[in-house]
Amino acid sequence: MAIWNLGSINIDHVYRLTRLPAPGETVTATGLSLGLGGKGANQSVAAARAGAQVHHVGAMGTGDDWVIARMIRAGIDCANVARLADHATGHALILVDDAAENAIVVHPGANRALSRHAVETALAGIGPADTLLIQNETSLQAEAAGQARAAGARVICSAAPFDVAALRDVMPHVSILALNEPEAAALEQALGTAPPVPAMLVTRGARGAEYRDLGTGRVTRQPAFAVQAVDTTGAGDCFAGWFAAALDAGLAVPQALREAAAAAAIQVTRAGAGDAMPDRAEVAAFLSARPQPRT
Ligand code: RIB
Repeated sequence: MAIWNLGSINIDHVYRLTRLPAPGETVTATGLSLGLGGKGANQSVAAARAGAQVHHVGAMGTGDDWVIARMIRAGIDCANVARLADHATGHALILVDDAAENAIVVHPGANRALSRHAVETALAGIGPADTLLIQNETSLQAEAAGQARAAGARVICSAAPFDVAALRDVMPHVSILALNEPEAAALEQALGTAPPVPAMLVTRGARGAEYRDLGTGRVTRQPAFAVQAVDTTGAGDCFAGWFAAALDAGLAVPQALREAAAAAAIQVTRAGAGDAMPDRAEVAAFLSARPQPRT
């Protein structure tokens, strides 16, 4: 059992603002920080802190050693993170306001420059007990997903940033499609039917999350835990990474949802994305202090 993640690695430049600017408006930041980000790296950190064995497959520039050092320190195998001399490490410009809302611009850089050979070679070891995570911030998701499914692995695809065309390519290989509620509605409208995948993990913000088994029609709901959020950046990545790790560890869907909801609730009480992921002890302590919310 292991998690393989073909995932982006970004340096997040986080600007704190009292409120997000309107189009054409200039506002002055009240703070600036740099941190580990990228939907892929965030999910890898979440899954590793949840206790999974995680192999990250990705690319970054030749500098920025602190980025990969932070991932390795989180327990992630980064042997298949390529260092590309002619591409910059991906980065994100993130605006976070006093209500913990954000707006994000991503420059993919090296994330979209990984070679097909590198991905195929990296995933040569994936097996039927393993899980592949993909998001929409790298290239070659469909190829990787096809290879993983052919090896019998579970494929969890986070549909972010949302792009229907990219989803059409990967969906034939996806086991669980993870997306938020507006994206789920937009996808269903674009397709004119439910997505052709076995299951969906739908996050609903303050209303929690639900797992839809599209084969049986069974829907498992998990309410959100009430917390005071300071920064919601990476909360969806935390949820997806932790959920994947919980399934990988053999937990049933309801328990995996509950743990992932707790992890995301802790993560939003901290500033940052990858650097804000909780560990198992924190999630266990959080859950032991809280009864299961009513559905
Ligand atoms: O989901 C949050 C992430 O989106 C940030 O860490 C940023 O890097 C972008 O990829």
